Amino acid sequence: MKRISALFLVLTFLVALSGTGFAQGIGGTDHDFSGQGWSSGQICAVCHTPHNSDVSVADAPLWNHEVTAATFTPYSSTTLDATVGAPDGISKLCLSCHDGTVALDNFGGTTGGTNFVTGDQLIGTDLSDDHPVSLTYDAALATADAELFNPTSTNSGLGGTISADMLFGAKLECGSCHDVHNGAGVGKFLRKSNAGSALCMTCHDK
Ligand code: HEC
Ligand code: HEC
Ligand code: HEC
Ligand code: HEC
Repeated sequence: MKRISALFLVLTFLVALSGTGFAQGIGGTDHDFSGQGWSSGQICAVCHTPHNSDVSVADAPLWNHEVTAATFTPYSSTTLDATVGAPDGISKLCLSCHDGTVALDNFGGTTGGTNFVTGDQLIGTDLSDDHPVSLTYDAALATADAELFNPTSTNSGLGGTISADMLFGAKLECGSCHDVHNGAGVGKFLRKSNAGSALCMTCHDK
């Protein structure tokens, strides 16, 4: 009897732990579609394939999901120093689900899917109300702005510099703040915790 209740306690504890959603890794997160009927139980295949990948987006890692063809309205402001154009690279991959124009189940050459991103997760094609992405963030931009850290010499707090840990070919993308695989396990797929605005102040000298 005692042994059974001890086991029950351990199990309850484990369930409580996994229930927090702050475990590291993609399993069980919003990006784990293996429980959806349309995924054939696969986790990685919705986004990646080992062969015959889509190479239309520069630097896309063995991409397997249909890529968005939408036209976007980028962020703009009078105080912005960077040049912000159409989303490219990693940001375009994220928007291939998060702009709401491409079905989640359109991967591996399949089209005609019927499941779309909704609610708070829908970023849409109007990016004028979102943090700018697909911009070159280098030492020159930091100097021009005067309130940005130099990304090539400032530590990100993740082991190396901002450039090495958070930029993609010197560009700031969705993946600068987010890790699609939930590597840090801090919620919202953030690359590091934003407690006390720590994520923001990694780059902004405020
Ligand atoms: C929801 C889409 C999505 C899923 C699911 C996904 N990935 Fe990724 N993966 C991406 C994106 C986007 C990038 C590029 C951004 C980055 O590197 O952070 C990437 C990058 C990578 C990279 C290269 C960069 C790195 O982080 O090492 C590898 C390797 C990788 N993924 C492996 C996997 C494996 C293995 C799985 C399944 C367990 C998986 N991914 C599931 C979207 C996904
Ligand atoms: C294959 C489609 C797909 C791709 C590609 C994808 N996502 Fe998602 N993502 C989703 C879906 C679907 C959800 C929401 C699931 C739900 O709750 O309905 C989601 C949820 C999220 C969330 C909310 C997580 C939370 O805890 O609230 C964030 C943040 C996010 N994605 C960021 C990204 C970023 C950044 C990228 C690119 C690096 C990306 N996603 C690529 C489909 C995708
Ligand atoms: C400068 C950092 C930064 C960039 C760049 C960024 N995000 Fe986020 N994103 C955040 C933070 C921080 C949150 C969490 C906000 C919160 O919890 O209130 C978030 C939340 C989200 C959510 C969840 C929304 C919700 O209310 O649950 C999604 C989806 C998302 N981001 C997708 C994206 C996509 C797609 C891109 C690229 C187009 C992107 N993000 C670029 C910092 C960023
Ligand atoms: C990886 C580095 C990085 C992170 C992390 C980051 N930013 Fe930024 N942010 C930038 C860069 C670079 C610009 C472009 C600045 C410019 O060109 O004037 C920018 C632009 C902005 C702007 C627009 C400035 C303008 O003049 O219109 C605001 C506001 C902002 N960031 C707030 C935030 C907030 C809030 C967070 C945290 C949720 C955050 N940023 C996280 C690098 C970052």
